[in-house]
Amino acid sequence: MTDKQIRELLASMSLEEKLGEMTQMAPNFFGTEDSVDLTGPMKQMNLRSEDVAYLGSTLNAFGAEKLIQMQKEHMARQPHHIPLMFMADVIHGLKTIYPIPLAMGCSFDTGLMEEAAAMAARESAVTGVHLTFSPMADLVRDPRWGRVMESPGEDPVLNARMTEAAVRGYQGDDIAAPDRIASCFKHFGGYGASEAGRDYNTVDISDGTLREFYLTAYKAAVDAGAAMAMTSFNTIDRIPASGNKKMFRKILREEWGFDGVAITDFSAIHEMIAHGIAADGKEAARYALEAGADIEMMSAHYLNYARELIEEGKVDIGLIDEAVLRILQLKNKLGLFENPFKGADPDKEKEVHLCKEHLELARRAAARSIVLLKNEGGLLPLAKDAKVGLAGPFADSVDVLGGWAFADSAERATLLNGLKEHGVNITATAMTQRMGAMQRGIMDVEDQTAELTALADCDVVIAGVGEHPEDTGESASKTVLRLSHNQEKMLERLHDMGKKVIAVIFSGRPMEIRPVLPFCDAVVQAWFLGIEAGPAIADVLCGDVNPSGRLSMSFPQTVGQVPVYYNHMNTGRPLAGKPHRFVSCYLDCPNEPLFPFGYGLSYSEYRYSGLSVEKAVDAEDGTMLKVSVDVENVSDVAGRETIQLYIHDVVASVVRPVKELKDFVQVDLGAHEKKTVSFKVTREMLSYWNNQARVFEPGDFEIMVGHSSEELLTARVTL
Ligand code: BGC
Repeated sequence: MTDKQIRELLASMSLEEKLGEMTQMAPNFFGTEDSVDLTGPMKQMNLRSEDVAYLGSTLNAFGAEKLIQMQKEHMARQPHHIPLMFMADVIHGLKTIYPIPLAMGCSFDTGLMEEAAAMAARESAVTGVHLTFSPMADLVRDPRWGRVMESPGEDPVLNARMTEAAVRGYQGDDIAAPDRIASCFKHFGGYGASEAGRDYNTVDISDGTLREFYLTAYKAAVDAGAAMAMTSFNTIDRIPASGNKKMFRKILREEWGFDGVAITDFSAIHEMIAHGIAADGKEAARYALEAGADIEMMSAHYLNYARELIEEGKVDIGLIDEAVLRILQLKNKLGLFENPFKGADPDKEKEVHLCKEHLELARRAAARSIVLLKNEGGLLPLAKDAKVGLAGPFADSVDVLGGWAFADSAERATLLNGLKEHGVNITATAMTQRMGAMQRGIMDVEDQTAELTALADCDVVIAGVGEHPEDTGESASKTVLRLSHNQEKMLERLHDMGKKVIAVIFSGRPMEIRPVLPFCDAVVQAWFLGIEAGPAIADVLCGDVNPSGRLSMSFPQTVGQVPVYYNHMNTGRPLAGKPHRFVSCYLDCPNEPLFPFGYGLSYSEYRYSGLSVEKAVDAEDGTMLKVSVDVENVSDVAGRETIQLYIHDVVASVVRPVKELKDFVQVDLGAHEKKTVSFKVTREMLSYWNNQARVFEPGDFEIMVGHSSEELLTARVTL
């Protein structure tokens, strides 16, 4: 349709139809059998059956046949035959599940992220889904928060690059294409800063921190053309995000020029009552309308109260029209007025879901997301003739996909399956009872350490340990990040038996593994890697893939350090080089994390030398410095290295972080190969938010290049 036709359609719609467009309900409202986990106040919604005919969208309904049917029935009932928009949480793949976003962040591979998102788009589009509630661009610093698994990590630049890559992958050049879907970034904003890592909790951060750290990746989503933005559950500056004019009207729309649709998170408008800023649903609806929330997800205050608000003169009909126009424009961009079923195709669905090409991509992504944290004495890769024992609750578990996985079966995903496929000589297994979820009241596995004697003849034991995926993600905050007691006991017992121990950790967050490090000769951080987890882990353990993942989030020494992140500010009393009293430190723990951001081992060894920083002003692309460094693979094994560039602004008018990642590149280096890698440092990279605007201030800068946020060569330059 032309924009003119869209506007004519809008003008011909009744108020009820408009409010229906602005309301999203679960598929069970449409008389299908689906039900979603309703955290919203369904009973209080006061919806009449005729309202359902007006609804504009639904969430988390899947299946081409079913969605085609739903669309047909809905369009027959809708007075103007306006099609529904089918939205869903396709977070890391639909059927071909790839690694959780935190793990994808560890790949530092934006091309891979784009490919994975494009694959998710293909699988979603053929099933009839039009839009995904992804990527989650929330910056995260607190591993107690269960949703860190949905974020690419703690760094704004890595987050932004991964976020834009995901948006590009989902949307391509044209969201109307039959194999593409629209992308909704979330949760705007600052949800990752929920106080004390407790989900849904207050967010209270300074404007400077918000702008420089937390907003960066959302802005990248907007610049990449994301079609939709979702509000968050938290307050920002004491106003819930769904009613926050500063966030939605000023920053998102006015400053960033976002002209897409804004949707609230699940029942978030209703929650303004519990927050205590709205007396009732009517007031909550008014706040959300004023803030510019176009679609209300899973509560019905727009439908119930907007008419009254307009009639009483409290809300201008212009606000409604503006919202509905954006929604209709999105439906139009998706091509739904011409083809309401878009890519939905039951035959293609069978062909595309879990096809060979997708499984291969998922496996590649999984292998690239693994981070090797420890490898004493070069225990890994596994010796070909090793007699291998297998232990632990994740040794033979299908619970390795991670949250938001709608896959039907995960038999292939187990570690045992992967090892078997690689022909690893597994001579014994013990204590492999699967982990239960704390969400279901199960706090630990049974103590079966007595069984471990079965592994006495093995040379090496691979121990699959971790946390249940249900204990990560939404509403899965924790105060203790250690492995469960019996898992720690198992690792200690194996070590005491004199076994070489390889711990493979399955988790959705950095865990506190310091207590078990002495018992493990090698530690492989496997996160939740999706449908090809087992084969990909075996690829790394056996040496078919040389691990190249780098931590996208720091691992704390102890939960007492949290939040611990690399790009922190300096204090007036920094620890370095000072006596230990009256400086900023702990009495019982170092300041540094156990493993820092950007850290990860490989089977190769790299040497950095010859850091050179030259002034090279190019007004056109904003370049100010040219930086180069030599990187040499000094081992016999070919590998992939992620070269990271950090800066530090030595003196500025507001305090600057001790270092900030500004760029990274990945290079493949053959055995003993040396390459020179170059970066451009732009004025934009050297600029920052001075509490009023983004500025560049001349002065001294440190330029650091290296292997991780802690292993860096440094040069100083005056600009
Ligand atoms: C989550 C969102 C999700 C939505 C729809 C909410 O509870 O916070 O991330 O997209 O549900 O399922």
